Amino acid sequence: MERKGVAFPEGTRTAAPVAPEREDSGYVFATSFEGETRRLRAGEAMWDPGTLDLLRVEPGTACLEIGGGCGSVGRALADRVGADGEVVVTDLRLDRVSWLGEHGVTVLRHDVLVDPLPRERFDLVHARMVVQHLSDQEAAVRRMIGALRPGGRLLLEDTDTSSLFRHAQQEGFLDRVKDAAYVIMRQSGHRARGGLLDLDLMLRCGLEDVQAQGRAVVVQGGTVQAEWYTLWIEHLRPRMEASGLVSAEEVDQALEQLRDPAHRWLSQVMVAVSGRRPRHDGTGARGAR
Ligand SMILES: C[S@@+](CC[C@H](N)C(=O)[O-])C[C@H]1O[C@@H](n2cnc3c(N)ncnc32)[C@H](O)[C@@H]1O
Repeated sequence: MERKGVAFPEGTRTAAPVAPEREDSGYVFATSFEGETRRLRAGEAMWDPGTLDLLRVEPGTACLEIGGGCGSVGRALADRVGADGEVVVTDLRLDRVSWLGEHGVTVLRHDVLVDPLPRERFDLVHARMVVQHLSDQEAAVRRMIGALRPGGRLLLEDTDTSSLFRHAQQEGFLDRVKDAAYVIMRQSGHRARGGLLDLDLMLRCGLEDVQAQGRAVVVQGGTVQAEWYTLWIEHLRPRMEASGLVSAEEVDQALEQLRDPAHRWLSQVMVAVSGRRPRHDGTGARGAR
């Protein structure tokens, strides 16, 4: 699909498929872990239905997806904005999103903590499960706001971990493994109250019409959604075990339970926060630097 071009500030690179080379910024899943692509796809299966309901974009609009992962949201945006709109998807690495080029999407290797964004260009900027991993969330969010046109909408989705693994029959289901996993996540900068912090941040940045809601999914063992958790634990297990917080046997048992269709549990709460850039700006937003 042909679309109008996207001009980014000098120093920012659009690219065809490339080898991963920007796995920095301390991101806990910046990894060659072979299950990471499967883990991201399982996450899409879990969260996309809710996200796609929230996107609300019109044909002809311009959208920026930060930290696009495997690209399902970027693809949905491209379908919705049509040939007269534009969609840009960024990530630290492009090998998982380069396929979007066939759908008229511009893919960009870009670190939202470091690299510039164009000013006042987009009607929607969306990021899911990205901000909660960033070391300087406020700087990143101000940069995203700077990329919005006045009146444009920022939509951030990040999880709150408190509901994870609630189980109807077993109080404390997988508690020790969950706690150990989040100790490791926290060491890499992950925030357990992610979505609620986004709300504070958007209000502090002066966005208008700020609204927030949470959603959770009931997950059954052995499903594609459950795989999001098994791959998460498998990725973190060397560090969890090395920390001494859990034993290899406990991790094996947890993985077995997550694969067992007899178990059902609650996911994290995905908190979606949306706000508009004021038409007369008081956000102190930073765009191109
Ligand atoms: C948990 S994944 C979520 C992927 C996708 N947004 C989704 O919800 O399916 C986080 C994504 O953000 C990307 N990411 C992490 N730090 C980033 C940064 N500083 N700048 C841009 N992308 C980043 C990662 O490479 C990864 O693809």
